[in-house]
Amino acid sequence: MTMIALIVNGRAVNASAEPRTHLADFLRDSLNLTGTHLGCEHGVCGACTLLLDDMPARSCIIYAVACDGARVTTIEGLGDDEITAELRAAFRREHALQCGYCTPGMLISARDLVLRLPVSDERSVRVGLSGNLCRCTGYVGIVRAVRSVIDERRKRGVQPVPGGGRSALGPVGSGNGSNPTSNAPTVPIATAELYHEDSGAIVIPDFKPEKVFKDHFTVGCPPDAIFDMFGDVARVAACLPGASLTGVPTRERAEGLIRVKLGPVSANFHGAAHIERDPLNLSGRIVGTGTDQRSRSSTQGEIRYQLIPIEQGAATRVELSIGYSLRGVLAQIAREGLARDLASRLTADFARNLERQLSGTGPDGSVEAPRNLDGFSLLIGLLRARARRALRRVLGR
Ligand code: FES
Ligand code: FES
Repeated sequence: MTMIALIVNGRAVNASAEPRTHLADFLRDSLNLTGTHLGCEHGVCGACTLLLDDMPARSCIIYAVACDGARVTTIEGLGDDEITAELRAAFRREHALQCGYCTPGMLISARDLVLRLPVSDERSVRVGLSGNLCRCTGYVGIVRAVRSVIDERRKRGVQPVPGGGRSALGPVGSGNGSNPTSNAPTVPIATAELYHEDSGAIVIPDFKPEKVFKDHFTVGCPPDAIFDMFGDVARVAACLPGASLTGVPTRERAEGLIRVKLGPVSANFHGAAHIERDPLNLSGRIVGTGTDQRSRSSTQGEIRYQLIPIEQGAATRVELSIGYSLRGVLAQIAREGLARDLASRLTADFARNLERQLSGTGPDGSVEAPRNLDGFSLLIGLLRARARRALRRVLGR
């Protein structure tokens, strides 16, 4: 169990939580705040939407311990909120609820729209509510209710609030993650990519990864050849799906870009990596950092490798230890199992490209261009692989 401190509905809460307990379960089971509903528990239906540091967030895909220091507002905390009161009245008037299961999450997303939208344009309201599913109403009454509240408020001269009054995202959506009592302005993740004052170069802080896993692949070349190639950063980058260099690399340092597309989120991680090599043990370590302005996500990663000769030295087993920490929007959707599977697929793609680099067996005798790191195609591959594994288990093979 881990102790956490949160501000829930304006009240300081100190409690312990299992690392795997998501925020919705924590609120419902430990604090008895059952107004936060659970539907899919996969971040799809929006029933569990609440405000995390004033920003709508899905509490079924956020660990409670990751919200240490955050300000959490559930539907119970909006009892006296003016906009929510107007929305409640409009929902009643427009018959915008039947069973009411989706209503707490719907009201919280609707409140955000009322705060932000300058006009009650139907398309914007529908798009804004598209992350909240309702199985009863058909949405017509809900959209009418939300639009009417926006219209009435704008008529009364209440101006929209740019960004809905959001503060910058911190770890897993919490702008106050490190210090619940601090009033200091939070640093947006986009600027967390620190630059060296004199040189302007990206600083690569050393770090301890939050998640670490092992992987390996084999290549039909002797370890020395592979170790030599690993010293050529440009050739290594050319094997990495979605990666490109943005500067001239040295043997110790490289700056570049990795493009990732994961579900609805595309990210371009700009960053830098520091490279360490140990020729005696044919091993090395690469530690890097990257940030994506658009998804306001940042990552730090570490890859340790060890080259083991196999087949009397004619081939090599490359043993990898991959560690990473992810912050921001991508951290909310990249669950550990998925991130691990994606990394395994990445490793397999990298191994294939590496083999082609070393043997020059790509099309036209050249190296095949690496594909982008497209989460969708990787995801389809993953689902296929998982289905195959499940089938094998069922058939007992
Ligand atoms: S329960 Fe469906 S998004 Fe959280
Ligand atoms: S009112 Fe029943 S799910 Fe929306």
